[in-house]
Amino acid sequence: MVAKKNADKEAPREQWSSKMSLVMASAGSAIGLGNIWMFPWRMGTYGGSAFLLIYVLIIAFIGLIALMGEFAMGRGQGKGPISAFEAIFREKKLAGGKWLGLFPVLMTLAVTIFYMVVVGWIIHYFVISFQGFAGLNLATYFSGFAGSSSAISWHVLAVVATTAIVYMGVKKGLEPINNLMLPGLLILMVVLAIRAVTLPGAVEGIRFMFAPNFGALADPLTWFNALAQALFSLSLLGCTLVIYGSYMPKGTDIPQAAAYTAIFDTIAALLAAFIVFPAAFAFGVSPNAGIPLLFVTLPGLFAQMPAGLLFGALFFLLVIFAATTSAISLFESAVEPLMDAFKWARKKAALITGAVVLLAGLPLTINMGHFSLWMRVTSGILMPIGTLVTMIVLFWVFGALRARKEVNEGAAVKMGPWWEFFGKYVAVGGTFFILVAGILRFTGQWR
Ligand code: PHE
Repeated sequence: MVAKKNADKEAPREQWSSKMSLVMASAGSAIGLGNIWMFPWRMGTYGGSAFLLIYVLIIAFIGLIALMGEFAMGRGQGKGPISAFEAIFREKKLAGGKWLGLFPVLMTLAVTIFYMVVVGWIIHYFVISFQGFAGLNLATYFSGFAGSSSAISWHVLAVVATTAIVYMGVKKGLEPINNLMLPGLLILMVVLAIRAVTLPGAVEGIRFMFAPNFGALADPLTWFNALAQALFSLSLLGCTLVIYGSYMPKGTDIPQAAAYTAIFDTIAALLAAFIVFPAAFAFGVSPNAGIPLLFVTLPGLFAQMPAGLLFGALFFLLVIFAATTSAISLFESAVEPLMDAFKWARKKAALITGAVVLLAGLPLTINMGHFSLWMRVTSGILMPIGTLVTMIVLFWVFGALRARKEVNEGAAVKMGPWWEFFGKYVAVGGTFFILVAGILRFTGQWR
């Protein structure tokens, strides 16, 4: 027994088998529902190519810096947030590091819980896409399904499948799934984008989507949307990428891995926009965001499209791939902390994570009121708290200089002192803005 306990404790940390696997995993985490159900609408609503311009700048000067920083903290400490924060605080003779590390972990768990409910719906829609959406009144169908007991089995299926993948571990679970699904999803996106832009009338959608409205940049809401989109889309909630960074071998080129992740994520967001806008314009409907887009508007378009049965099924397969590679990273964000805090073996940590996500998600699965409240609290308040805590610990307690040195170890292109400025002030300031704005919006003081 004692021997077994020690074996658990001393099991060497898992590692990615190559830089490619790491890039696939973090791009897989980044590309998810956020790219498909939020990006196109945000771009179309908040200034078209003017939005795209500031989005790309935010990705470059906040997103990429934070991405490198989280990777570096994970790799430097060889641990996820709980133990990493603890070690960083202890070094400065500060107490409470591990409790602070719990913040990003729990906030990310809150995301996981509602994300998996949606993954359940997606699997269901993939299955029904084979009968086609033509005979259905889609709005009525969705409101009858989501928030009812018929959604339970799909939620269970989503959680069980994701648990099974993380149960297998980094090399046998996460890697093969990411290596299969990430290229698969990019190919499907290209196929669907080609279908969408070649529909008669599609050009109007493209024109609308790119029409630059620089006036929108005077509206703080535009900046809020671009920043919130960038943080969520790059999975910068302060937990996941620290953990993915902790599985990096020492010599990994962090700036390069971060750049690939951001580039893939942005390409995927644009491809999603090339699917949604042209298709919506071709059929004269206005593209919207979130749940109605995925489960009402787009299925409605597939119902009218030539070969819509095929494209509908391909679309939901694409969303399954995108959501699964993100979901496993979300699960991993609970599994690693459990292994870390309680010295549990991976299998036990995976099963407990699955059980928690399942039970906590159940009330949301059967009640849409609970679901929307949970989602609003999480995205408005909890998520920005997790991100901000990690950014402050990273750039101020661990220190921007040390973070930069760690980033530069093994890097072909080294980051200069400007990197520290962007981390300490721009990334932290931007996240602080998102938190304040999130609270004001949640309480209805800012619309
Ligand atoms: N980036 C994912 C998406 O766009 C969501 C996510 C956030 C995944 C945080 C992991 C961690 O859907």
